[in-house]
Amino acid sequence: MATMACRGFNIFIFLLTLLNNDVNGYHAVVVIHGVLTGSDSMELISNRIQEMHPGTQIYNIPRYAGWSSLESMWHQVEEIGMDIMSIGVVFPEGINLIGYSQGGLLARAILQRFPNHNVRNFISLSSPQAGQYGTQFLHLFFPDLVCETAYELFYSRIGQHTSVGNYWNDPHHQELYYKYSNFLPYVNNEKNSTKMPTFKQGLTKLNRLVLIGGPDDGVITPWQSSHFGYYDANQTVIDMRDRSIYKDDLIGLRTLNENERLVLITVSNVTHNEWHKNVSIVDDFLLPYLD
Ligand SMILES: *[C@@H]1O[C@H](CO)[C@@H](O)[C@H](O)[C@H]1NC(C)=O
Ligand SMILES: *[C@@H]1O[C@H](CO)[C@@H](O)[C@H](O)[C@H]1NC(C)=O
Ligand SMILES: *[C@@H]1O[C@H](CO)[C@@H](O)[C@H](O)[C@H]1NC(C)=O
Ligand SMILES: *[C@@H]1O[C@H](CO)[C@@H](O)[C@H](O)[C@H]1NC(C)=O
Repeated sequence: MATMACRGFNIFIFLLTLLNNDVNGYHAVVVIHGVLTGSDSMELISNRIQEMHPGTQIYNIPRYAGWSSLESMWHQVEEIGMDIMSIGVVFPEGINLIGYSQGGLLARAILQRFPNHNVRNFISLSSPQAGQYGTQFLHLFFPDLVCETAYELFYSRIGQHTSVGNYWNDPHHQELYYKYSNFLPYVNNEKNSTKMPTFKQGLTKLNRLVLIGGPDDGVITPWQSSHFGYYDANQTVIDMRDRSIYKDDLIGLRTLNENERLVLITVSNVTHNEWHKNVSIVDDFLLPYLD
């Protein structure tokens, strides 16, 4: 089923190549869904963009829906990244990208892994950009999992086969995080690799990086992870600007900020499962960045 849907999606992209003769006012938008859901969960956002910015071409990524959203981040980055590169070829004038929850972290890593992308503006909607240390959303399938011991599962070779394990960031077991995590420390350029310059270039070239999150989220923990803030060893939240990833400009956040291309948005009273179901979020915080 999933394979069929994805093959269909490739053909869809190809057909759009043939149809893309019209010049309209807005750049195409690619939308990536969150964990344990699929493209249907992103229809409110897609429909609202089309309503308010008529003529916008929208690609709501169907891959890795439901359980398959738990597959490793690198697998998802490779496949969805190729879709985004194919779509970018169809629209040489550039595209915009929106990712919700896990989809926003996938999107960010895709920009880094495929630095030749032509994404103009990227909006991260409540995504665990600095990692996650909360199990609430995992209780559906791991009812007994608690933060304190989850590292035993995730910081292992098997645990690294899951998307959540790839961005699990236990502030009390940082040495294991750096040793076992094969995703987040790399895309954060916290671990030396030959990819460091291109990982930085892929984000730094954006016209705008928009990070949206809020204190009533309830799932992203700490919620400031949506703004690249994170816990220290005492579980005190350290602001992005006081963390090495920003201060040492590891992935371009400081460069973007100094050029007024980084936008941090905090919205209260929105729970994690409401961000993509709330029309006023689209109107107030997404549409202004979709040119
Ligand atoms: C990473 O590389 C830098 C310089 O290239 C070096 O100073 C640093 O010690 C390296 N870090 C690790 C953990 O290998
Ligand atoms: C954590 O708290 C202890 C005791 O208050 C303090 O000595 C230590 O420096 C703190 N560590 C960090 C990383 O802030
Ligand atoms: C948040 O919700 C509370 C209670 O419903 C309300 O009093 C408050 O004004 C709301 N704040 C915002 C920023 O919407
Ligand atoms: C929708 O978003 C607004 C902020 O734009 C917030 O005040 C409101 O509480 C949200 N509604 C729901 C149901 O989450």
